Amino acid sequence: MTVRLPETQRIPPRRTRYIRDERDPNAFLVQRSVFVDDAVLAREREAIFNRCWIYVGHESEIPNPNDFVARTVAGRPVLFTRDKEGHVHVLYNACTHRGAEVCRERRGNTRRFRCFYHSWSFSTDGRLVAMPDEEGYPEGFDREAHRLRGPARVESYRGFCFMNVHADAEPLDEYLAGAKYYLDLTADQSATGMVVTPGAHEYSIKANWKLLVENSFDGYHAIPVHKTYLDVQRARGDEIAGNTSTDWKQSHAYDLGNGHAVTVKEAPWGRPIARWKPSMGADTKPIIEESYRRLVEVHGEERAAEIANLDFNMHIFPNLVVNNIMAVIIRTFYPLTPGLLHVNAWSLAPPEESPAARRVRNESFLSFLGPAGLATPDDNEALESCHRGYASDPGEGWSDVSRGMDFPEPRNWDELQMRTFWRRWSDLVEGMVEY
Ligand code: FES
Ligand code: FE
Repeated sequence: MTVRLPETQRIPPRRTRYIRDERDPNAFLVQRSVFVDDAVLAREREAIFNRCWIYVGHESEIPNPNDFVARTVAGRPVLFTRDKEGHVHVLYNACTHRGAEVCRERRGNTRRFRCFYHSWSFSTDGRLVAMPDEEGYPEGFDREAHRLRGPARVESYRGFCFMNVHADAEPLDEYLAGAKYYLDLTADQSATGMVVTPGAHEYSIKANWKLLVENSFDGYHAIPVHKTYLDVQRARGDEIAGNTSTDWKQSHAYDLGNGHAVTVKEAPWGRPIARWKPSMGADTKPIIEESYRRLVEVHGEERAAEIANLDFNMHIFPNLVVNNIMAVIIRTFYPLTPGLLHVNAWSLAPPEESPAARRVRNESFLSFLGPAGLATPDDNEALESCHRGYASDPGEGWSDVSRGMDFPEPRNWDELQMRTFWRRWSDLVEGMVEY
């Protein structure tokens, strides 16, 4: 049997400007200026968002040749396209003539993006294919040199597409490290490939982006902050005691490598993939049970039980969250200023699921996870409240992130997952400079 050592015995202490990872006594503290300082954000753009693999979109969003989605990824307007041969591209949405956005629609299907400024036209793989009065350009003008630019690297794992502006980045497969196991658990929920369902959530929070990283897998806040949601589920017939240590079963937190981390547990709510609870309605019970039988047929009993029953909240460094709970959501976010972040979230579902299961899933996407639902507004208020609080003492105040740091097996409501994030953050932003 493997004996697991607590972090305090595995990980060396560090004492930097922003992080105190102390021993004797054990403590993990984060300096609160990291949430409010413009210079820190400038450094994060350079050392994190321009170095790491950044999530762009799910390939199911562009299923057909010449489909495209236009969105902003880590501050850069991009086009996520499938060319006429079926290959996926990420192109910067900036004309190579004088810079206008070549696409002003949010999504669609087109053979060409025609820039509205002077009508240069580009194919969905980025080639400059037409322009008015080409004869006006000097001899030797090269269309090929004027194709749409894009990030140096674009790679996908099980339909999740990422970009990296840094040509020497390690392959995505290596970067994802232990996160792949959990992406597989998500992808394996469908025999034909999970798809992003129509519609998305987009909202802003007046708080620092790293607060959303922490919140997205913080089990400690669930009972106090989400009382309303849990009360509603209880009123609908689910067994929820409102007690962290009994409501969450098989609760663990794991460091997945490269700053990624996950919390796993069996939560008290139902899951439309294959775990029925009374709040889902009696009519859905046979459908959800059938869905479980299908999973057993494809994956066997053990894997099917894991797919059905393992709730997890995973953060892939730096700004992707996959929450596999009462629905599956993909959430990505980016700081506009130290005190303002923008969030995009999508729901991921098996295309073969029944309309009744999809109804339950959509309802969860709205009622728990939506910006106007019963839970996310409470999370957002907590984040904004922290951010307001920092104004009182930004240079001197420290946040305490030390729960469970001397446990061999920290739980979902401890804070190993946040420490995993902060250690990686410090490696990149501070370069392990000791103070
Ligand atoms: Fe696009 Fe001129 S800026 S054609
Ligand atoms: Fe929450």
